[in-house]
Amino acid sequence: MKTTKLKKQVVLKGGTILDPINETLKKGDVLIENGRMKSIGKVTPSKSADVIDCSGLIVTHGFCDIHVHFREPGREDKETLDSGSMAALAGGFTRVCVMPNTDPPLDSPESIRYTIDRGEECPIHIHPIGAITKSQDGKELTEMGAMLSEGAVAFSDDGLPVTDTGMMRNALEYATMFDVPIINHAEDLCLKKDGVMHEGKISTQLGLPASPGITESNMVHRDLELTELTGARLHVPHVSSAKSTDYIRQMKKSNNKITAEVTPHHLFFTDDDLITYNTDLKVAPPIRTQADQKALIKGVKDGTFDCIATDHAPHTIEEKEGTFDLAPFGMIGLESCFGAVNRALVKENKLNIIRLIQMLAVNPRRIMGFETDLFTNGNPAELTIFDPNKKWTFKKSDIYSRSHNSPFIGEALIGRIRATIVKGHITALV
Ligand code: DOR
Repeated sequence: MKTTKLKKQVVLKGGTILDPINETLKKGDVLIENGRMKSIGKVTPSKSADVIDCSGLIVTHGFCDIHVHFREPGREDKETLDSGSMAALAGGFTRVCVMPNTDPPLDSPESIRYTIDRGEECPIHIHPIGAITKSQDGKELTEMGAMLSEGAVAFSDDGLPVTDTGMMRNALEYATMFDVPIINHAEDLCLKKDGVMHEGKISTQLGLPASPGITESNMVHRDLELTELTGARLHVPHVSSAKSTDYIRQMKKSNNKITAEVTPHHLFFTDDDLITYNTDLKVAPPIRTQADQKALIKGVKDGTFDCIATDHAPHTIEEKEGTFDLAPFGMIGLESCFGAVNRALVKENKLNIIRLIQMLAVNPRRIMGFETDLFTNGNPAELTIFDPNKKWTFKKSDIYSRSHNSPFIGEALIGRIRATIVKGHITALV
């Protein structure tokens, strides 16, 4: 991967421009001047312009992942804001929102300021999500107003649910003052207990403690009801079960404050894949059955899910090499995301590619209140260039994260990122 500063004039020549706002897909060129969008259409490059051949490639909005774990501060051995940025660039992401379960957690205005300042030094845009409760222990709400003033964009105790229903109600009510999303990691710990995977035929075969789908849907339902009660904005992260999807679909009909995300791993794998005890497939919420996977894909197609988010969760080799019951939950996902969802949704389930890009670029930005129309002239260039048909096998050498806990290693993916443009630089994957 090679990052270079954009020349004064750059022309992305002869690609197919996918405009996810106007829902068009047409051949054309993009002119970038001084790092900003100048024009789209037919461009005759000046002599000094840097011309990048994009024939056979799609040029579109830079992707935005609203759910990543970059582990800084505290576990820089797993990931830093810099190494996470490189993983993001490799995956076509120009902007991410980092979850607050760092060490210490992002639960104060000072910690939000730290992340904002550090993010400014990074090659992509980084937005912190603040914790809902201090120390993420579910007991006392954080100072949301002050954290928002420092740059927080949403609130979550992700990794841990807000178990106390009264506390969740208070969090939602408090958040209505600011109209920002509350993102609750929905897993009922009383049902989850020491479950390490989805409860079903495979967990019985493997002899592993497991938790059923209602571990999630039970709490998703609670949160949806609380959203109705409070009028707050709720964003449901990493939905894994058919029942949760149904509840969200139903509630969204009468409540436009609800949004939801689905991950590449829940769309790509089923619990059958855990048969080898691969700890890289240990994730919270767990990978579920084929029926759940089908329901998630239906939820993508009918708009129940607004966006795709990776839940990129780096862990060390030492931790993941432990036995399945002891390994931590989580997998990395930025680098493999596009090839995985393009295969699972567009190639295998006939999702329109424009809709996929809306889920990767437009809707995540809309949820977080970021600028969505990236093609507007004068806006800083934030673009992703990819080959939609490239068949490839994901390898360890495709990983830029500090951690390597990816179950996608060895998987056949379709669609490959070629370059990512952001903050006045172009990063090309060679
Ligand atoms: O599997 C997970 N790992 N799920 C989460 O929600 C948190 C994440 C982590 O931080 O490792």
